[in-house]
This record gives sequence, C-alpha cells and structure tokens, in this order.
Amino acid sequence: MSEAGQGKKDAGNGGEDPRYKGIDRVLKKLQFKQDGLIEVLTAAQEAFGYLPEEVMIYVARQLKLPFSWVYGVATFYHFFSLKPQGKHNAIICLGTACYVGRANDIVDAISKEYSVEPGHTTPDGEFTLTTTRCLGCCGLAPVVVFENQVLGKETPEGTIDKIKMVLAGGSLGTAAAPVEEASAT
Ligand code: FES
Repeated sequence: MSEAGQGKKDAGNGGEDPRYKGIDRVLKKLQFKQDGLIEVLTAAQEAFGYLPEEVMIYVARQLKLPFSWVYGVATFYHFFSLKPQGKHNAIICLGTACYVGRANDIVDAISKEYSVEPGHTTPDGEFTLTTTRCLGCCGLAPVVVFENQVLGKETPEGTIDKIKMVLAGGSLGTAAAPVEEASAT
C-alpha cells in the first residue's frame, strides 16, 4: 500500500473517499515536505469545502507533524474553515486599509440583513459570512470577495445588493476582478 493510502486507512475514513485523491496529489507533488502544509490544507479545503477534523488528522500523519501544529495553522489563517461553508461565501477584509474604509459597517449590515454572525452560515446553508486579514489589494479598500471575485470600494448597500442578486439566482457578471488579478494590484 502507498504511503498516502496507508494514511487514509489510519485516518479512519475507510480509504475509499475520492476527495482524498486531490490531497494525495499535492502531497506527492510536494514530496511530503512539511513546509508544504498550507498548500496541502488548501487542496484539502478545495476538496471538502472546509477542513474536517479527520482530514487534518490525515494531513498531520502524512506530513509527520503533530495534529496540534496542523490545527494551529488551520485556525490561524482565516481563509481556512473548520466548519462547512454555505453555497455562497462573502469574505470581508478587515485589514487596516479596509477597516479605515469602514469595512466593519459592511460586516454589520450583512450580519443584520441575514441574521448571521461572521464565521457562520445561514441555517438554509445558502450563505456564509467570513472576515479576513489584508488580502493584498488595499488600493481597492474596502474589499469584499464574493463568488470568487474581488469587489473594491464596497459599501454596505452595494454589497448587500450584490448578495441579494446572487442569492436570487443572478450572477455578478464581469464587473468585478477575478481574485488573482486583483491581488496583483
Ligand atoms: S486591508 Fe483590505 S486589502 Fe489590504
């Protein structure tokens, strides 16, 4: 049995869950190096939508790291989630430039409109509100990432209008910049 396959069995998932394949691919690409932890956790979150405990145990075993270390990294970075995410996720940047631009008003307005606290998902599983540290595109502050697009110079009303539109089945179109493009600003 491969090292990865053995780990899956150890992690107690039955060894057959296809979502582990994406994690295994990254583990192999990085040759099981411990400094690849963030990349591996990112792949795990992509595969599962969040980081279940058994997946973190699996990653810890594969990289021969203590579980507490993996857990610490997963909880330090706000882009990792330990809870299932909603179908749509709005991430509000609360880094300094965005905070000065009143990003906290956007968080409060969304929180009130959808009765959801930051870090939580609406009971119907449709929407998650998340906050994060600086996203590296401060020139666009206040910044919101929604539907994998970076929205700059946001306002509480404008962001809520976009969320309403998407939750009603619409899309953001091409008005906003894709995440990678905006990060380069
Ligand atoms: S502070 Fe929000 S992008 Fe930098």
